[in-house]
Amino acid sequence: EEAGRELSRGLCRAAAAAAGGPTPPEQSLDQPVKPASSGEAPEHRALVLTGFGGYEKVKVQTRRSSSPGLGELTVRVRACGLNFADVMMRQGLYDRLPSLPFCPGMECAGIVCAVGEEVRDRQVGDKVMILARTGLWQEVVNVPAVQTFLMPDGMSFEEAAALPVNYITAYMILFDFGNLRPDQSILIHMAAGGVGTAAIQLCKTVENVTIFGTASASKHDSLKESGVAHPIDYRTMDYAEEVRKISPKGVDIVMDPLGGSDTSKAFHLLKPMGKVITYGVANLITGQKKNLVAMAKTWWNQFSINAIQLLHHNKAICGYDLGNMDEEYKLITGVVLKLINLYNQGKIKPKIDSVWSFDQVADAMKHMQEKKNIGKVILVPEAPKEESKKAEN
Ligand SMILES: NC(=O)c1ccc[n+]([C@@H]2O[C@H](COP(=O)([O-])OP(=O)(O)OC[C@H]3O[C@@H](n4cnc5c(N)ncnc54)[C@H](OP(=O)(O)O)[C@@H]3O)[C@@H](O)[C@H]2O)c1
Repeated sequence: EEAGRELSRGLCRAAAAAAGGPTPPEQSLDQPVKPASSGEAPEHRALVLTGFGGYEKVKVQTRRSSSPGLGELTVRVRACGLNFADVMMRQGLYDRLPSLPFCPGMECAGIVCAVGEEVRDRQVGDKVMILARTGLWQEVVNVPAVQTFLMPDGMSFEEAAALPVNYITAYMILFDFGNLRPDQSILIHMAAGGVGTAAIQLCKTVENVTIFGTASASKHDSLKESGVAHPIDYRTMDYAEEVRKISPKGVDIVMDPLGGSDTSKAFHLLKPMGKVITYGVANLITGQKKNLVAMAKTWWNQFSINAIQLLHHNKAICGYDLGNMDEEYKLITGVVLKLINLYNQGKIKPKIDSVWSFDQVADAMKHMQEKKNIGKVILVPEAPKEESKKAEN
């Protein structure tokens, strides 16, 4: 195992040398390095989805590294985010996937160790966070420089890996589609999860927003601490009824990551001029493997409305999918800069639920699917120190 680690430590140097770029200083990688043997592309550890199905389908394998292409960077990865979408991807419930086997992973953070031609605004040693459609659950990645964002001072790699997907999603839903304003009210589903936690923090940047949040009962204390006025246990009660008991007219915004009949419930919970932003179909997931009954039920109950009916209701329905904005670099970079600004002001801070090594990826996914996480689940290439395993930020 140590030999494998040694090899990977040498990767950045080998990649930098192959790219003809400067070799990263040893302390930028904070570990001693051993050059790869000449003539052979070095190998690194990667998580690979080998087939659609249960937890065991994601395996640790080795992949050959290569030097960065035109406009690309090579990054030594220090932490990766686990997303609900990765669970869906594992079950084959995601579109536009590469053919199997492939490396999942939509976000990570690490240190630039080689710079390709025509990259002007990144250099070896920069700490970056990365957003991509797939491919980032690896010790070393080559990525277009436009998909990387410089980490602000003081941000940990775990925080940086937790930020892109959850916070970009929450920000664009709340402020671009939702137009959240002071004194409004919002219902956030999966409120204690990655996107939910980000959304609560972002809501708190606007004056006097009343937050209703659904989550398992064991998470309600944490939700209250973070600013949810009305936590609701959707597992034992009808959340729409609970919202109406407190706010008979409903709410201004519903964040809908559930789909199926919940989108319809969301629409009917809106006040006039309210908005549902639908951004997920979590109702498809009921266990380790694809559930055809849940799929049929969710699609059968999918909400639909025509433009004339919508007009009479004075309500809006928006659909959001970050995964389908992979060409919108300028738009996404603008959002990330706003988020970094909020981080620097202390207004947002990713909440890390737990940190797992690549070898523990099955346990990490199980932890999320068994609804145990409060905040973000992080994967790291090497085994985390015991005390940081369950690290609340
Ligand atoms: N469209 C986009 O661009 C975009 C981007 C990011 C995320 N999303 C969506 O946002 C939602 C949240 O994603 P996330 O990555 O932040 O995950 P997450 O909220 O951390 O997901 C885990 C939590 O979800 C809750 N949950 C609700 N239904 C579940 C189910 N069927 N199976 C397992 N857990 C369930 C559980 O907590 P409780 O039961 O206690 O609530 C669990 O702890 C997902 O639907 C995801 O697809 C969409």
